[in-house]
Amino acid sequence: MTLSETEDQARVLGGYDDASRLRQVHDRDWVLDRVPAEAGTLIDLGSGIGQLLEAALTRYPALRLAAGLERSEHRIAEAAARLRPFGDRAVLHRADLTAPPALPLTADAVTMTSVLHWLYPVEERVLGWVRDRLAPGGSFLLTSYHPARDDHGLGGEDDIVREALTELGVERAAVPGLFAAHGVLPIATRTRPAGELGDLLGRFFTVEDSWERRAEVSVRDAAQYEHFHAATFGDYYATVLEPTVRAEFFRAVGRAGWARQRERGRVSSMPVRLWRLSPRTAEPGDSAQPGA
Ligand SMILES: C[S@@+](CC[C@H](N)C(=O)[O-])C[C@H]1O[C@@H](n2cnc3c(N)ncnc32)[C@H](O)[C@@H]1O
Repeated sequence: MTLSETEDQARVLGGYDDASRLRQVHDRDWVLDRVPAEAGTLIDLGSGIGQLLEAALTRYPALRLAAGLERSEHRIAEAAARLRPFGDRAVLHRADLTAPPALPLTADAVTMTSVLHWLYPVEERVLGWVRDRLAPGGSFLLTSYHPARDDHGLGGEDDIVREALTELGVERAAVPGLFAAHGVLPIATRTRPAGELGDLLGRFFTVEDSWERRAEVSVRDAAQYEHFHAATFGDYYATVLEPTVRAEFFRAVGRAGWARQRERGRVSSMPVRLWRLSPRTAEPGDSAQPGA
């Protein structure tokens, strides 16, 4: 079977440079504004296509080493090309943050933007890993998204996907069960409410500061939202459907986003929080995980 252009894009999470301008890119300067100018080492977790590392290396000449950890080989390859001009000031490691590697790294700053929800429900593994690698006085700068959710734990992108599935003939009430049957955890469940996340962070860090803004996504047409969805969520949701209808699913997601844009003047709006965290001393037996 030949894949449609969007299915191909979703498979490799392609087109992120363009798609991330709609939402995720706004985290970058928000976070980098809080990196101390004298920081010598920075680690970016879930570094994607290397945009934050590139901006940090450009902006902070004192940065001797900027390291990215990322799971997707396609994104690592795109990041490697982007960071080539920085030579050995930039390094990339392929890593799964749900089982963080035992790398001999310490950092003055660790950043993680638009990633934490993908690590649910084992976020404590990466949180312990970060705490153990921050240099004295170092900060962990983390962004977290908090869409409202319904009684089934669905909200944000889950809602748009539910609208698309309904248009394709799935009963609205059957959508939570369809997700569960395919092991698709709603993103609005993964994101955790801000208070619950604050409690989890408090086991590893002192919250020095936090700020909130709203992330609003607007598009010019259905095709742009289809592209944004494929670049951001890949085929995460599409797997609930048979391969033969996935191309139509992506088009339906584009239409659902565009319908919202016309009705509400935007596709979505949700609070995003930026946390500035400093490490708490590890309690005995409180390590991230064996080998971390
Ligand atoms: C929405 S993108 C954010 C990328 C970048 N940090 C930004 O702010 O634009 C989420 C990134 O997290 C990566 N990711 C998701 N789960 C991961 C895991 N378990 N380990 C490592 N990276 C992961 C994805 O491959 C993707 O590049």
